[in-house]
Amino acid sequence: MYATDLQKHWENVYETKDTTRVGWFQQKPIVSLNFFEYLEIPKSAKILDAGGGDSLLVDYLLEMGYQNITVLDISAAAIHNAQIRLGSLADEVQWIVDDLSKCQLDEKYDVWHDRAAFHFLRESEELQHYLNLVRRAVKSGGFLIIGTFSKTGPTNCSGLPVTQYSTEELIDFFSNYFEPIKCLNSDHITPGGVEQNYSFCAFRRK
Ligand SMILES: C[S@@+](CC[C@H](N)C(=O)[O-])C[C@H]1O[C@@H](n2cnc3c(N)ncnc32)[C@H](O)[C@@H]1O
Repeated sequence: MYATDLQKHWENVYETKDTTRVGWFQQKPIVSLNFFEYLEIPKSAKILDAGGGDSLLVDYLLEMGYQNITVLDISAAAIHNAQIRLGSLADEVQWIVDDLSKCQLDEKYDVWHDRAAFHFLRESEELQHYLNLVRRAVKSGGFLIIGTFSKTGPTNCSGLPVTQYSTEELIDFFSNYFEPIKCLNSDHITPGGVEQNYSFCAFRRK
């Protein structure tokens, strides 16, 4: 039994698809990792991968020596896939199954990373909830690294409509609480060979 249709959608994706073939799959999340390097995130940083799914970001961060990583996703199946892949290393990671458009977080983080989850939020209440969540959860001086489909990217992801953002729109959305450090656009090539343009921004919590 699923809490919402949205959760049902994502459980179905992660239970039925080969997630190394889905559009957002990356063998190595280079753009995100480059931001960690650029921002000189210390290995002790408390990191949240919001809507992390079964992304390999956590694998690379563990390999780099990060020790305080949490992965949050609406899909328990996504989290399960990632845990199976990591084996005993999964015990070194905190896992949360929850909905970013509704949940509350008890912990505070040095880094909030979100690639291709925020862009699914379309209702103004959901967007406001996300903004409040991230502003409360990121420590003062902490970082937000966020990637969405850009204005020239797709209008749908996993069969769901998304909001496309220019880097300027990302800056504008988070401007009350976060100051931009670096923004860029990058092309992601899907496993099927399709080019998708992303807007990425890194911010510092004011
Ligand atoms: C396109 S995938 C991207 C996954 C991962 N960030 C990556 O880059 O490979 C979007 C992810 O966001 C999750 N997601 C979508 N809406 C969500 C929500 N409201 N709360 C939490 N996770 C959500 C999905 O389950 C899925 O894992």
